[in-house]
Amino acid sequence: GDSGYEAWLAYPAVPSGNQRDQYLQWCKYVEADTGNTTIRAALTEWKRGMQSMLGLGVLEGQESGAPRIILGTWNEGNPLITTVFDEETIRSTGPEGFAIRCSREHQCIAIGASAPVGVLYGVFHLLRLMGTLADLEELDEVIRPVNGLRMINHWDNFDGSIERGYAGRSFLYENNRFIDEPERLRDYARLMSSTGINGISINNVNVHQQETLFISKEYLSDVARIADQFRDYGIRLFLSVNFAAPMHGGDLDTADPLDPQVRQWWRAKAAELYEAIPDFGGFIVKADSENRPGPFTYGRNHADGANMLAEALEPFGGLVIWRCFVYNCKQDWRDRKTDRARAAYDHFKPLDGQFKDNVILQIKNGPMDFQVREPVSPLFGALEKTNHLIEFQITQEYTGQQRHLCYLVPQWKEILEFDTYAKGEGSPVKRVVDGSLWGNRCSGMAAVTNVGRDVNWTGHLLAQANLYGYGRLSWDPELSAEAIASEWTALTFGSNPDAARIVIAMLMDSWNIYESYTAPLGVGWMVNPEHHYGPNVDGYEYSQWGTYHFADHQGIGVDRTLNTGTGYSGQYMGLNAERYDSVESCPDELLLFFHHVPYTHVLHSGKTVIQHIYDTHFEGAEQAAELVNRWSSLKGRIADSLYDQVAERLKGQAVHAKEWRDQINTYFYRKSGIEDMQQRTIY
Ligand code: GCU
Repeated sequence: GDSGYEAWLAYPAVPSGNQRDQYLQWCKYVEADTGNTTIRAALTEWKRGMQSMLGLGVLEGQESGAPRIILGTWNEGNPLITTVFDEETIRSTGPEGFAIRCSREHQCIAIGASAPVGVLYGVFHLLRLMGTLADLEELDEVIRPVNGLRMINHWDNFDGSIERGYAGRSFLYENNRFIDEPERLRDYARLMSSTGINGISINNVNVHQQETLFISKEYLSDVARIADQFRDYGIRLFLSVNFAAPMHGGDLDTADPLDPQVRQWWRAKAAELYEAIPDFGGFIVKADSENRPGPFTYGRNHADGANMLAEALEPFGGLVIWRCFVYNCKQDWRDRKTDRARAAYDHFKPLDGQFKDNVILQIKNGPMDFQVREPVSPLFGALEKTNHLIEFQITQEYTGQQRHLCYLVPQWKEILEFDTYAKGEGSPVKRVVDGSLWGNRCSGMAAVTNVGRDVNWTGHLLAQANLYGYGRLSWDPELSAEAIASEWTALTFGSNPDAARIVIAMLMDSWNIYESYTAPLGVGWMVNPEHHYGPNVDGYEYSQWGTYHFADHQGIGVDRTLNTGTGYSGQYMGLNAERYDSVESCPDELLLFFHHVPYTHVLHSGKTVIQHIYDTHFEGAEQAAELVNRWSSLKGRIADSLYDQVAERLKGQAVHAKEWRDQINTYFYRKSGIEDMQQRTIY
């Protein structure tokens, strides 16, 4: 597993010692009912792990009385499964969960579940426990996913490019053909399933000409082949669809959601789809957003559009995942009244309660677009009667594009812990998103993935931790960012406590470091237009995209207050609205998102805004350079091939961080004319 391809399923050898002895004692034999393809996949995974971690060629079948692993569902297979667990345990595992227990009495470690996929999750869990050298003999727990939907969104295009992809080209398509590499696809499904992912949409939300035809006879068999691979690993396939699809190929001359012919077209389409893929997940829709077609063309609203598709999928149990990333992308920069941050709430809050039960709104974590820092979208908590998902971005579009290290799990944790006050204090986003706050039938998380054809999947090896971490967090938002980093590190590099300490600390510091040398105090967007890599303070200042910082010689920031600004702060509830609206109580890290202040404004930290900008940029670039040294202490302690991949990226990051530092500092020095109190070099 030295290329990084095996990722967190590399199953490094368990070092000799008590733990290894214990594992060898329990794991020589396995009993599983192999009538089901998912259980077979679980068994294959188990054998692979045992071979690699313990050098064990596991034997199947019972060796009377010998300690063994038993895998099965409650209804089929080994009767011991229902003997090892009590009735309450059996009732409590739910559709995707599992129970795991070490029983000395029955001389086994048993994994039992209602469905085969639960058994598979249980096997991945046990392998993870062993990969982190856990003690198995006290095992007795029931584990269920907290979120129902744990989705991955690909932004892959049929030509093989990936929108916002930073790990090479697509491994799904090339040159308008489906790539036929079943092994790589299966390994991908294994990786995803091992973190708990249960839904994957395979094409870009911007559905171009060719991809519009994925739902046509021409391509359905190719799509179905991918779905078949995913199915064994408990993953349902979803497709992004073009709202104007009925007009393609000249079938119809309208896509009006209230037109009976259009409705009929989609119903027929759904029937075809489910014939090819009986467990098809449903549609992802980006409508009336960034020049994509949608219901607005026909004077209809988003509920009309989403419900029309939902009606077509309903008989088959399909879902419509409708994105809320709807805003005016043709804004005049001179117009200070229009505020892009308001858009999702302004569009969707009034429609709350009008969507069918199989529609799920997908809401980006923040009101803008995956910046390194922005507030939590005020739609969380505000939609009381509508299913919804939170959308994160694993691919590092605005966070260093997998050339910079930026472990995003701490950011996601902060967002999930944010208290919306929707039902008073104690209404965090994680409870909105898991559906428990408002009692939603469908809910969970989605994220834009960061994988491509690069051998290590994610370009930057350490960016694998984001992919792994997203899956784990969507399964259980209570896991800490550090615990996830620690799991990933052990599973990837093996259990070397010194090495682990270094990697975990680097991961944990990285988001903060990246934020320090890029856009300050929540203002965002100081990047080069279009590709979004590298510093350009005014790159978006005179654009149509609604992404401004309004820096002049006196101050900077966007006034989003109720009295003098765009009123965005008023979209929040309770204390949040007050806290953000007041320049005194607004947290430093979001100050410029909500307020326009002079450079001499004093932050809670005691520093002026301008001195904060200088200090964080000098310190951030220094810390980026320090990452190179921290990593170099791992030389010889992890595989060279893995070591080298990261070393090279970190060097690039250090150089690029200086560029960020100097451009940002120089820009604000020239604008403000205010000297750095420490007299460091500014150009
Ligand atoms: C961002 C990104 C686009 C993407 C869009 C979306 O704006 O830059 O490439 O299409 O988000 O989420 O739809």
